[in-house]
Amino acid sequence: MTHTNLLIANETLSAWINEIRELCQPSGIYVCNGSDEEYRELCDQMVSSGMMIRLNPELRPNSFLCRSDPTDVARLEHRTFICCEREEDAGPTNNWADPSKMRAELKELFRGAMRGRTLYVIPFSMGQPGSAYAMYGVQLTDSPYVVANMKLMAHIGEPVLPYLDQAQVVRCLHSVGKPLQPGETDSTWPCNADKKYIVNFQDDHSIVSFGSGYGGNALLGKKCLALRTASTIARTEGWLAEHMLILGVESPNGDTTYVAGAFPSACGKTNFAMLVPPEGFDGWKVKTVGDDIAWIRPGDDGRLWAVNPEIGFFGVAPGTNAKTNPNMMAAVKSDTIFTNCALTADGDIWWEGLTDVAPNNLIDWQGNPWTSDSGRLAAHPNARFTVTAANCPSMDPARDDGQAVPISAFIFGGRLSHTFPLVYEARNWEEGVYWAATLGSEATAAAENQAAIRNDPFAMLPFCGYNMGDYFTHWLSLAGRLSETPGIFRVNWFRKDEVGRFVWPGFSQNMRVLRWIVGRVKNEAGGRETPLGVMPSYSDIDWNGLPFSEEKFAVLGRIDGEKLSRELVSHQAYLSTFQPRLPERLLQIGDILQRSAQT
Ligand code: GDP
Ligand code: PGA
Ligand code: MN
Ligand code: MN
Repeated sequence: MTHTNLLIANETLSAWINEIRELCQPSGIYVCNGSDEEYRELCDQMVSSGMMIRLNPELRPNSFLCRSDPTDVARLEHRTFICCEREEDAGPTNNWADPSKMRAELKELFRGAMRGRTLYVIPFSMGQPGSAYAMYGVQLTDSPYVVANMKLMAHIGEPVLPYLDQAQVVRCLHSVGKPLQPGETDSTWPCNADKKYIVNFQDDHSIVSFGSGYGGNALLGKKCLALRTASTIARTEGWLAEHMLILGVESPNGDTTYVAGAFPSACGKTNFAMLVPPEGFDGWKVKTVGDDIAWIRPGDDGRLWAVNPEIGFFGVAPGTNAKTNPNMMAAVKSDTIFTNCALTADGDIWWEGLTDVAPNNLIDWQGNPWTSDSGRLAAHPNARFTVTAANCPSMDPARDDGQAVPISAFIFGGRLSHTFPLVYEARNWEEGVYWAATLGSEATAAAENQAAIRNDPFAMLPFCGYNMGDYFTHWLSLAGRLSETPGIFRVNWFRKDEVGRFVWPGFSQNMRVLRWIVGRVKNEAGGRETPLGVMPSYSDIDWNGLPFSEEKFAVLGRIDGEKLSRELVSHQAYLSTFQPRLPERLLQIGDILQRSAQT
């Protein structure tokens, strides 16, 4: 790399960087300035080393394909730890480890871990640098792939430096955990096959990650800082750090309503955040603020205000196409890093669902020849693209300068083939918190080793940095600080019929549900009382442009009293696992709902 003269003026930080350098013994150190030129140079370097494949510049300009190690393809929740003094402050949903024991073990793992590699220093900011919302960090990493991805996802380098001296800075340390012996040739995706750790220390908020180079395991500003660390700080400071998309719905008369939505990983946040209204919705527009993380604070006006602390997307590739997500297809036309997608013969990418028919002669995500009768997937189910938000045509101008937007509704949804209807509105804040706390979803490829159906409260199961019972209490208590609480809704795009087909067309058609939600918070849309809450009748939904029968809609709204009752019983059992920190109120609400289910 060309040398820059960037200096970390903050003495405590530079002392820490020196200490890590001595411990890890990299062959060199490089402080990232965050420039486009630096990004280009790094990518060139990765192309020469074989870590990146340059895609055909005529088809996919300035874009690259990376293939990860088959053992390093998703977040590793069983290797993710929260370290704080008392186990009960992390539990029961997080893996806990004793901070001093963990520090000692990690120190040995990092000893000499960067031999033969460059140590990159990445000053970064989550949120607009200088804004009231920003949190600053410095990530040390031996992965150039991480640097390139961080450049697309966060503010890095020079623009962040002025703030490192003034604010608390989160120290983030990362290594792929694969030192090189002299003369040893590197693999194209170095990682550590035996030892992987993703650790949040809640005493000093530092973050350490070892052994993996993939996504949320390695881009430490994202899940580790902006969710696990931030949620912990947010609790004590009275705000929220959530696994949520943020979008604005502009109606034909020009007013915009903002909503935030939490769906577990690979359950539709990115698609929903940049939805294109279907035929029949002339004059309606969806404006994207964020697709994965929301920082939300009560404002002086008693409303909740949200920002997206990221400036890019790390999105699921399979299933993305010109019909399901035209905005994302436009975004990834150029300047994109693709990971674990298939490669076409003419040097472009492909994944399941990009086109109906696979092109001939692909190279699959593991680098092997592939044809449609190979009997395996061409792209990994958790294949991803990394692209800067500026590339996406649906971005809301409001987010350009890091402005917060007011949230009028929260939407929670998972992948549930049965029982749960397309949409319902909780009767009040407390019932809404109940429905969010009891959110569940079928397994996805975004994380390893998931149960078939798992409870995923608020879609925060892998990301809440502290005791989940305390988190429920935090949400319940928020209502008292607001002049008016946002509506809380549950949605389910994934209900299936007897033969296993999705009943709801989803994607752009989700606009019909979104319109109803916006109508509800504006007191303009009707609905009917059900045991779950308020549901739209057929005539409450705008069907303009979509032939969808009343019978089919009835399937989406059907509530089987017996199934619901069993579901509610299982909720009580699940909620009880958070004792003694469970707010009693949630069990009482479960009882109220159980009674209404039986009448
Ligand atoms: P995220 O990980 O929560 O951001 O989820 P994505 O938006 O990336 O979607 C994950 C997967 O679900 C992709 O394969 C999408 O094509 C698919 N998906 C998203 N929205 C819908 C929908 O409304 N209906 C159906 N059937 N699939 C969807
Ligand atoms: P996702 O983000 O929510 O878009 O899947 C990545 C993740 O949660 O691992
Ligand atoms: Mn996510
Ligand atoms: Mn996403």
